[in-house]
Amino acid sequence: MTTQQTAILFVCLGNICRSPTAEAVFRHKAEEAGLNLFIDSAGTHGYHIGSPPDNRSQAAGQALGYSFKGLKCRRVSDEDFEKFDLILAMDHSNLNNLREMSDPVYHHKIKLMLDYAGLKDEEVPDPYYGGKKGFELVLSLIEQASDGLIATLRK
Ligand code: 4NP
Repeated sequence: MTTQQTAILFVCLGNICRSPTAEAVFRHKAEEAGLNLFIDSAGTHGYHIGSPPDNRSQAAGQALGYSFKGLKCRRVSDEDFEKFDLILAMDHSNLNNLREMSDPVYHHKIKLMLDYAGLKDEEVPDPYYGGKKGFELVLSLIEQASDGLIATLRK
């Protein structure tokens, strides 16, 4: 990470389905757009630390050309609130957890991912206990939000 780079962190519960999908999709789209950003993802809970993204997330994303290479689950840390400029939560539960974990001086950085898809207050639903359709919905919502976020960053 360089001092000039805007740093964006995507956050879900487990950091194996939604937020690594957001990291992979947004990194691809940011590169295509020629934006030089620092991009990462993390989970609010530590069930799967060190694991690669869920195979079902990888299958859905790879089918559309996104790479999950090198991604490994980690938990949100105290330093993340200082380090990142924007911290995007996949749902209200993650958003509330992030707010509770952090000093109020950082709360302006914490937002819902789908705000950038023009879907105010809506959530990227947790696909973990569902089927393939849920993973495809996650991907589609994340693509929409990523496009919106890139448009915002270009302004
Ligand atoms: P994620 O999905 O928050 O999108 O990574 C989940 C992954 C794991 C669990 C729940 C949600 N879990 O309960 O282990």
